Amino acid sequence: MTEPPTPPEPVVSRRTVSDAEGRAASRRWWDEDADSYQAEHGAFLGDVDLVWCPEGLREADVRLLGDVKGTRVLEIGCGAAAGSRWLDGQGADVTALDLSAGMLRHARLAADRSGVHVPLIQADALAMPFRADTFDTVHTAFGAVPFVADSEALMREVFRVLRPGGAWVFAVTHPIRWIFLDDPGEAGLTAVHSYFDRRPYIEQDSAGVPSYIEAHRTFGDRVRELTAAGFILCDVVEPEWPPGHEEVWGQWSPIRGRLFPGTAIFVARRPAAP
Ligand SMILES: C[S@@+](CC[C@H](N)C(=O)[O-])C[C@H]1O[C@@H](n2cnc3c(N)ncnc32)[C@H](O)[C@@H]1O
Repeated sequence: MTEPPTPPEPVVSRRTVSDAEGRAASRRWWDEDADSYQAEHGAFLGDVDLVWCPEGLREADVRLLGDVKGTRVLEIGCGAAAGSRWLDGQGADVTALDLSAGMLRHARLAADRSGVHVPLIQADALAMPFRADTFDTVHTAFGAVPFVADSEALMREVFRVLRPGGAWVFAVTHPIRWIFLDDPGEAGLTAVHSYFDRRPYIEQDSAGVPSYIEAHRTFGDRVRELTAAGFILCDVVEPEWPPGHEEVWGQWSPIRGRLFPGTAIFVARRPAAP
């Protein structure tokens, strides 16, 4: 019997990509990965819960978004939208947005399971179908921000849809992680990459078409892109690895988490109207 041909390994590189290339790669990647992402992480994230990161920090405990009752809240890169369903239960008027139809299919399945239905919109966070000054809060846990080529443009787009005084809270991979291999074990403890190499990490097929993109920004870059868009940076939370937490999520693990941060959560605000 002949073995089926093994698909070729994607070629990895660090190079700049256009917004269009990034959008196409992300949409295809997250559509194809949606089932396995939810199978692997769905139980940890829950159907109705806002978990900020693999360290397990929960909005119910830290209240980074403050009191959302009666306010308009947008989640970008929502995936299965568990966070939006939880905020719906807190009395917020929520909308959840994602680029990927595959991820939004899981949001509908989770809505049916939980009985909590929130509006779901398929769109690119770089060009959102909302009027200016619409939302009181925009948030995301690892959605959209790491996967767009031009995160400066994303900051401006979030600023546009927020009302004056509104909050922008987003969790991303901690910038320091980019100096290490993407490995949860001992091999992930040794610095091998330059922290200052901002070229996106790209996986591409044999024709050179990107199939996955993830972009690195240094800590200073993140501060500058927020302030350049007009935001005031209020806080940066670097969640610590909790004692007894043994769950490995990709490159996040107890071995690494006990030594250095894996997540950075930026809390920013659009200035109030004068
Ligand atoms: C790592 S998943 C996080 C999903 C969810 N926030 C969670 O905590 O499970 C990244 C999500 O960002 C979405 N995404 C990537 N690029 C996007 C873009 N340009 N606009 C909107 N969503 C995007 C993906 O489709 C995916 O659902």
